[in-house]
Amino acid sequence: MKHIDIRGWFNHESFYDMMVGRFSSGLFVELGCWLGRSSGYLGTKIKESGKDIVLDCIDDWSLKFYSKFGLEYSTPDEEKLSPVGIFKSNMDELGVKVNAIQMDVREAVKLYKDKSIDFLMIDLAPDDYSLTKEVIDLWTPKVRGVIAGKDYLEKFPTLRQAVDESFKGIKTEKGVWWFETNKS
Ligand SMILES: C[S@@+](CC[C@H](N)C(=O)[O-])C[C@H]1O[C@@H](n2cnc3c(N)ncnc32)[C@H](O)[C@@H]1O
Repeated sequence: MKHIDIRGWFNHESFYDMMVGRFSSGLFVELGCWLGRSSGYLGTKIKESGKDIVLDCIDDWSLKFYSKFGLEYSTPDEEKLSPVGIFKSNMDELGVKVNAIQMDVREAVKLYKDKSIDFLMIDLAPDDYSLTKEVIDLWTPKVRGVIAGKDYLEKFPTLRQAVDESFKGIKTEKGVWWFETNKS
């Protein structure tokens, strides 16, 4: 199995390559993982690098969210699993080690000390301004390296608004935005 065999939304491989190259060790946290397409890619890259990087994957894996996008099971085995079960089974099949944390991201932030995260990736709900702003406000103090997110695109003006209100001097590439917190 490869990450592209997992259904989901992920097309920023080169950005994740850059992040794995940038840090020699540390803590990476991904908010919004669904069935693990992006997490599987990042986990594989970390493993291949041989670096001492821990990857925490946080999602509430709520069925409510899945029904919005239509969770279809592709095999009878998947049908027996919850969404988080499918995520974990996919990580096992890829042979990558991640910490799957099933929580609302607004609660999970309490698990982290200030300036403890080297790289934080946000991939939640691009059409939800208040969630995006709240998540940036809650999580930014926890990051000592790079904070980033997906969907910085014209079709998601309120996501861009939330990011622009929060940071001056972001970089963007192919819909990914990122900000170096240690340069502020
Ligand atoms: C676009 S999907 C993530 C896609 C994934 N990165 C991939 O590669 O396919 C967004 C995810 O955010 C999660 N999510 C949305 N709001 C959340 C919240 N408040 N707390 C935790 N997870 C949330 C959803 O359950 C969903 O899995």
